[in-house]
Amino acid sequence: MDLKYLARFRERSAWESARTGPPEGFPDLPDLPLGRYTDPEFFELERTRLFGRSWLYACHDSELVGAGAYRLCDIAGAPVLMVRGDDGEVRAMLNACRHRGAPVVREPCGQARALVCQYHSWTYDLCGRLQRVPDQRDFVGLRPDARALPAVRCERWGGWWFVNLDPQAMPLLDWLAPLPALLADVARSPLRVLDRTSVELPCNWKILAEGFLEVYHARTIHPTTVAPTLDTRGTVISLFDHGHQNMLSPVKPGTRGDGRESLATLAHLPALMAEPIQPAHGVFPNIITPLDARGFPFLVWWPVGIDRTRLDIIWFAADWGDGDLPGADVWRRRLDRFAVLMEEDYRNLGPIQRSMEHAAHGGQVLNYQERRIWHVHAWIDRVIGPERIPEPLRVPDLLAAWVEDPTEFMAPPSPDTP
Ligand code: FES
Ligand SMILES: [Fe+2]
Repeated sequence: MDLKYLARFRERSAWESARTGPPEGFPDLPDLPLGRYTDPEFFELERTRLFGRSWLYACHDSELVGAGAYRLCDIAGAPVLMVRGDDGEVRAMLNACRHRGAPVVREPCGQARALVCQYHSWTYDLCGRLQRVPDQRDFVGLRPDARALPAVRCERWGGWWFVNLDPQAMPLLDWLAPLPALLADVARSPLRVLDRTSVELPCNWKILAEGFLEVYHARTIHPTTVAPTLDTRGTVISLFDHGHQNMLSPVKPGTRGDGRESLATLAHLPALMAEPIQPAHGVFPNIITPLDARGFPFLVWWPVGIDRTRLDIIWFAADWGDGDLPGADVWRRRLDRFAVLMEEDYRNLGPIQRSMEHAAHGGQVLNYQERRIWHVHAWIDRVIGPERIPEPLRVPDLLAAWVEDPTEFMAPPSPDTP
């Protein structure tokens, strides 16, 4: 349980509200180099060594119900197919036929008995093993057992499936630490995907990400949507290992008014989420989630090009079992309001990208309450390997001393009730 974590939040929030400057010893952060958003060499390092080696969100268990359920996921450009086999196991493989590379599924999701290539009908079973080759007599020395669909590492946290394009990657739960300990109750609550949208935005992926890593902009960009509801002076930010971080903002009483109170709560709630506190947990490198007892989204961003980013917004609700979604009207209004808020965030992205390209402002200046941005950049470099990055573009790990272990403030999780 996280009661001590909640008590610590209250203490720190009071301290943040009262402070007149950054805490003693907080470093004077250098400007972030603009080339990190515009340099093709750096972008290629991110593509191959960061997105090519990180655990990345693919889909939720509730989207893979029953043998043969599949979902096609664009994982930083790689066509990853998630399939539940006859044995109930979920596997990840590339949607790339071993004959000449055509896709074995075309729909974004569905139910299949076998995976049949769309070009010449090579047929694979739900584990990706090649089962049938039309006109096999015409291939010299073809060994079907050596031509399975290429397997991709996939592992699960709660109901969330992640994939990693690097077969040597550390286990998912080690990568995510300390979030699985901090959010154990949320992860063990049965959830279901209730909405999924995507939008492509005209900026480098980090420009979008950075807008989710601070509330400094709330009063300016969100004067009617976010600013009236959050006490941003009392916001508490934490930096965690592996580039993860969070931000907890006190919610002003009675200000939300989106009807979420009438929606079902998650089956298991950390103490923190039963309080009027708006969390935003950052999962390195490409997720932010404003967790909420009444359901919440994952915002997942993907580089499409150096100045193009896709944002997937996936909403989860407490699993409602059979029948229609309870509170569908309230949900509709809530999602509509969220869409308005997101539009407010999108407006600056293209212009900022243009500023970057023209080096119009020299560098990105970060303050104390924007420190999650520095932390994420420093971890990008750690994962890529600083020695591979051109020296002027490096971001050193100047905030290592400010990284916390939240599990110090938590008792072991309570056992699941049968
Ligand atoms: S490319 Fe798949 S069967 Fe030919
Ligand atoms: Fe915003």
